[in-house]
Amino acid sequence: MTQQTLLTGHVLLTHGDPFLDPDAVQIAPSHGVLIEAGHITALGPADDLRAAAPDATEHAHGDNLIMPGFVDAHAHYPQTAMIASWGKQLIDWLNTYTFPEEARFGDPAYATDVAGRYLDLLLDNGTTTVASFTTIHPSSVDAFFEAAQARAMRVAAGKTCMDRNAPDDLRDTAQLAYDDSKALLEKWHGVGRAEYAITPRFSPTSTPAQMSALGALWAEHPECLMQTHLSEQVDEIAWVSELYPEARDYLDTYEAHGLLGARGVYGHAIHLTPREVDRLAEVGAGLAHCPTSNTFIGSGLMDVAGLAARRISLGLATDTGGGSSFSMLRTMAAAYEIAQLRGTALHARQLLWLATAGSAQVLHMQEKVGAISVGKEADICVLNLASTPAIAQRSAQARDIWDAVFATIMMGDDRAIAQVWVSGQRQRNGI
Ligand code: GUN
Ligand code: ZN
Repeated sequence: MTQQTLLTGHVLLTHGDPFLDPDAVQIAPSHGVLIEAGHITALGPADDLRAAAPDATEHAHGDNLIMPGFVDAHAHYPQTAMIASWGKQLIDWLNTYTFPEEARFGDPAYATDVAGRYLDLLLDNGTTTVASFTTIHPSSVDAFFEAAQARAMRVAAGKTCMDRNAPDDLRDTAQLAYDDSKALLEKWHGVGRAEYAITPRFSPTSTPAQMSALGALWAEHPECLMQTHLSEQVDEIAWVSELYPEARDYLDTYEAHGLLGARGVYGHAIHLTPREVDRLAEVGAGLAHCPTSNTFIGSGLMDVAGLAARRISLGLATDTGGGSSFSMLRTMAAAYEIAQLRGTALHARQLLWLATAGSAQVLHMQEKVGAISVGKEADICVLNLASTPAIAQRSAQARDIWDAVFATIMMGDDRAIAQVWVSGQRQRNGI
């Protein structure tokens, strides 16, 4: 018989979308999660599972919250070393800080070093899955997938394609973007837990020819994700309309080149026109909300509640290093604050859902990760709800478990991550 592991404590159970049904996400006290051969094989009251699996090794978590590992729906691992760079808005920030750092990934050894460091930071923060951009260099994609493979993590990534409005050493061509992306897709997609995402950076850095080439590749491989950026800053949108004078709006620059679809993941999506919202809803595309980035780079306030009401698929993302944190706790806190500024108080269950099942849905990984349920891959994060003196004194006054969870969402960081499990294997951090 294979080794069984039993985690007991409060368990976050996800049955559906809490934006549609508040009861869809619940916390079950004194519950258990049984893990075997990398998967969740049983759920139920802790005592029942102890009786059913007497040989299982138990990790008793008491008042901790056992929840799915966080799923970060949009990030840039090559921006790890320049996170929190001061004083610029999007286009200047890219030119001043981002592009020079991304040029360093021409050295494969540097890419390997950063990829490993980045994924370890994610695990320290309870994030077990990420969809990441890379750089123009195919070796930066290899470095990322190899680092994820070494940690048995489910990830999505793809070569970040740019053939204009970027420095010489960060530009490819339409043909090279197609050829490199195709070769990397064939090498990595479906290998272990790796998923390839076709990745035009954003409309300003791709010519229409490159957009069409990548649209053609997506049509040949509709099983893959396509990730990019959409309507992040007002100046960026004005630039897009100059670069694509025939386009109806920003989204149309993608649609006209075969880059709009249900497996499309569009980062930011803040300043959308009604037509764009209608079209995103119609095709079932996914949006990645990047709240720490949106405040840090000065982009604006996404209308999460309004988009959720339109049943648009939404996930949560750090957007490292435009985002100012690797932590999905910090990211949920920022999402709460942005929604407050737009007049909506998101509930802890909605924030947790966005950071797990919501993101998994946007990445079309919801059958595999993003929830604690039987048959899912055992990617699990255990949260300590009293991880610092400040949080402990607050959670001691909590009216109920959700109140305690909310305090950790707002005030917690990597110290709140008690344990992380990936593919049923315990990671290095925690108790
Ligand atoms: N738009 C195009 N590239 C980027 C990037 O690297 N970060 C952010 N935040 N927005 C972008
Ligand atoms: Zn981004």
